[in-house]
Amino acid sequence: MTQHPPEPYRIKMVEPVKLIDKEAREKALEEAGYNVFALKAEDVFIDMLTDSGTGAMSKHQWAAMMLGDESYAGARSYFRLAEAVDEIFGFEHWLPTHQGRAAEGILSTLLVKEGNYVPNNMHFDTTDANIRSRGGRPTNLVIDEAYDPENLHPFKGNMDLEKLKAFIEEVGAENIPFGMMTVTNNAGGGQPVSMENIRAVAKIYKSYEIPFFIDAARYAENAYFVKMREEGYADKTPTEITQELFSLADGMTMSAKKDAIVNIGGLLCMRDNNLFVQAQNELIMREGFPTYGGLAGRDLDAMAVGLYEGLEEDYLRSRLGQTAYLNEKLLEIGVPVIQPAGGHAVYLDAGALLPHIPHAEFPDQALVVELYREGGIRGVELGSVMFSYEDPDTGEMVYPDLELVRLAIPRRTYTQSHLDYIVETVEKIVARTDEIKGYRFTYAPQFLKHFTARFESIA
Ligand SMILES: Cc1ncc(COP(=O)(O)O)c(C=O)c1O
Repeated sequence: MTQHPPEPYRIKMVEPVKLIDKEAREKALEEAGYNVFALKAEDVFIDMLTDSGTGAMSKHQWAAMMLGDESYAGARSYFRLAEAVDEIFGFEHWLPTHQGRAAEGILSTLLVKEGNYVPNNMHFDTTDANIRSRGGRPTNLVIDEAYDPENLHPFKGNMDLEKLKAFIEEVGAENIPFGMMTVTNNAGGGQPVSMENIRAVAKIYKSYEIPFFIDAARYAENAYFVKMREEGYADKTPTEITQELFSLADGMTMSAKKDAIVNIGGLLCMRDNNLFVQAQNELIMREGFPTYGGLAGRDLDAMAVGLYEGLEEDYLRSRLGQTAYLNEKLLEIGVPVIQPAGGHAVYLDAGALLPHIPHAEFPDQALVVELYREGGIRGVELGSVMFSYEDPDTGEMVYPDLELVRLAIPRRTYTQSHLDYIVETVEKIVARTDEIKGYRFTYAPQFLKHFTARFESIA
């Protein structure tokens, strides 16, 4: 029997969840315009919408929150967080932000000009939108293996180095205000990036004098994959691996809501003093004074503790074990999933599961709806709703290669029986895929469509 390592914690406080009946679920879907972002959370039984801000904090984090210093400037909480940020990431300058996208927004505002390009292995939706909304062109240059769901490459988040060099030559380094690398690669399956690849990417950016920023949301999960899979790292701790990784970059944007296991928070770090001075001013206008950056003092304290807890080895073993377990079980019942399992989520290949639904009719959205309809499970589509866009040169719609449904596993929140229930629910859907129809928009905003779009079934 496949099992994952027992969780290195026990439950001290519970949050009740309930499965509302089938009729109520159908009504909830209808009222939400078939967009699960518009569901009431209390109508969701197992919430795998995101692993962002949904983790369970430890007793040490809750205790740290009581120490929160809510002074407007120079709070003790800030200095406690500074200690953790300095030790783990080691950048000369840093700023707290309320989320990762705030850090991305500040960076893009300061650096991206109309017609600029920003290469990345794969941009996540918020970096994509932050760059695009300032007239920039986010460009994905991940290795081809990332687009093959069955390919077992150990580091499917790697950048294609040849593509990167050719791209810089083609558009010109002067049109690239900064280059990025997302660890792990959320949009491509939560797949890790090897240290060797990051080192090579850093070298390329440096040779063209392009500042290198890491989108660091899942730095700890990436470090544990490096430890498990990359030669020469088995005896290093996740903290040592993380320190090495960030020593290669000029800065980072980070959502702390993932590997720092807090409900809210982010970071913007950099080495360049000029950029820091400008970023500080932007932060004051949008987020808050630089020693709190849009967060309460208690949030800073929870993050200071969470940054270390996210790097603990027994936690990371259990965390990645849960994802591997769910992936394995879904494969056992014949469901196409991205292989090997990523760090924070399982990605169902809706394009392969529902081949009769074309990109333009959102097969992944159809699967998301079915997961809720069948079992009260909330996942999220990562495909044509989220990533399709109109090409500014040709005016044609560009669709992503993969139509995925992500089931993100919140940290320290669900147990093995919840994962088994998901497998049973998916099995019931698989038995009736022929009946499932596509969707069309009844409303869609220009950017970040998936959050607020409404749909109707093409039945
Ligand atoms: C890779 C990556 N970057 C950036 C973000 C944005 O972070 P936030 O939700 O804190 O704004 C996310 C959120 O899911 C992410 O996964």
